[in-house]
Amino acid sequence: MNVLVTGGAGFIGSHIVDRLIAEGHRVVVVDNISTGKEEQIHPDAVFYRTDLTRPELREVFEKEKPEFVIHQAAQIHVNTSVEDPAFDASVNILGTINLLEACRNVGVRKVVYASSAAVYGNPETLPLDERHPVRPLSGYGVSKYTVEHYLNVYRHLYGISFTALRYANVYGIRQDPRGEGGVISIFVDRVLRGLPMTIHGDGEQTRDYIYVEDVARANLAALEAGDGEILNIGTGRQSSLNEVLRLFREITGQDVEAVYGPERPGDIRHSVFDISKARRVLGWEPKVSLEEGLRKTVEYYREQYRTMDTDR
Ligand SMILES: NC(=O)c1ccc[n+]([C@@H]2O[C@H](COP(=O)([O-])OP(=O)(O)OC[C@H]3O[C@@H](n4cnc5c(N)ncnc54)[C@H](O)[C@@H]3O)[C@@H](O)[C@H]2O)c1
Repeated sequence: MNVLVTGGAGFIGSHIVDRLIAEGHRVVVVDNISTGKEEQIHPDAVFYRTDLTRPELREVFEKEKPEFVIHQAAQIHVNTSVEDPAFDASVNILGTINLLEACRNVGVRKVVYASSAAVYGNPETLPLDERHPVRPLSGYGVSKYTVEHYLNVYRHLYGISFTALRYANVYGIRQDPRGEGGVISIFVDRVLRGLPMTIHGDGEQTRDYIYVEDVARANLAALEAGDGEILNIGTGRQSSLNEVLRLFREITGQDVEAVYGPERPGDIRHSVFDISKARRVLGWEPKVSLEEGLRKTVEYYREQYRTMDTDR
């Protein structure tokens, strides 16, 4: 297949690209390298340093004529969307409209889209399934949800098939611990630098943490399975920060220190996905346990930090 991946230099996108290439597909990456890194792009992928919002995107599509698009590029920070909602909307909504127009222009068959748990807002019932009310609490949640509607419109008007994947909390290798990266990448970074973990609240708050390779597999499955579907992608298991801390202690053999601070206002207490629809539609199953995923991540970064130390 000829697949174009937006955001293929980023955390999740680069894992998707690696897997597509391993399975023998031709891959084109479009990324503006704002949060992604060029060295994360698989050397066998064709790379265009192009912004989603720019008219040049159309030329890339005309040249490469992709059959499938996996759309990961986005403004990903909830805080940025609160401080500058217009910027968030310009990338996530207008940039995606530009992308969908380019898809229409060359007759793309299907778009697989990275949506988010942020569309739900504060969970009213757990586990969250796809019928749960959608009441996003940030511009980011609104922009991610808006695109789901545009996908429906382009399917209706032009027959472009889509599958939207609402990700839970994704973690793993290549996640950026700077900025507002996932809590696990921040923890890994602090543990390996011998710094204490900062926990806001009592540490009993829970999330559905899913390993990045499981998310990449879901994207590949979605290229062929599902049409016009919205699917939760998580593990269906909720884990507390205290459990994450205990696993870090076990994996590193270190007495990792934790500093408990005041709860952050507005933080969601518990969240976990019901993933039965994704299981059914995609024939997909998350395979990596939290312990195994944390172990892989810690081992990878331990090696990276060691190399950084010897390079200094
Ligand atoms: N990480 C998570 O836990 C999580 C959870 C839910 C949803 N998502 C979604 O998954 C997708 C991937 O997120 P990630 O965690 O890999 O983040 P990331 O920042 O590592 O990846 C995003 C990529 O998009 C690129 N990009 C950003 N703006 C662009 C633009 N205007 N034009 C072209 N490229 C642009 C960045 O350079 C980067 O390579 C995003 O759509 C995000 O909203 C992530």
